[in-house]
Amino acid sequence: MTDIDWEELRAASRDIATRAYAPYSDYQVGCAALVDDGRVVVGCNVENASYGVGLCAECGLVSQLHATGGGRLVAFTCCNKLGERIMPCGRCRQLLFEFGGNDLLVDTPQGILPMREVLPQAFGPTDLAAVMG
Ligand code: THU
Repeated sequence: MTDIDWEELRAASRDIATRAYAPYSDYQVGCAALVDDGRVVVGCNVENASYGVGLCAECGLVSQLHATGGGRLVAFTCCNKLGERIMPCGRCRQLLFEFGGNDLLVDTPQGILPMREVLPQAFGPTDLAAVMG
């Protein structure tokens, strides 16, 4: 695994934020993540006239992760259209946890934190495996 180039990830998130479709909130979001094989995957939010079905940027990111070969997320960053770092919403922390687990590094306004601090005591795949065998 190579070192994490946070500036490259932040630049990728700013770039993809310009492709967001956010006519209802006017709050464009872009995110980018490093995958354990060195790939960088990105996502932007895609809203909908039926407001509740809008997609957060992270939805696109995890979709691209799988569409391009899967793998584990190692490092994640997210920004608004001003390029300011933002936290992933609660639902999206769960999405990211599925593919990065407790060790995923998250670029937060308070610094780089592991997912175990961003989503403490997360429910995840091992909880299911513990019961389902
Ligand atoms: N949004 C994201 O894309 N990701 C987040 O983690 C926070 C919120 C989007 C959803 C909606 O399109 C807009 O930001 C305003 O909430």
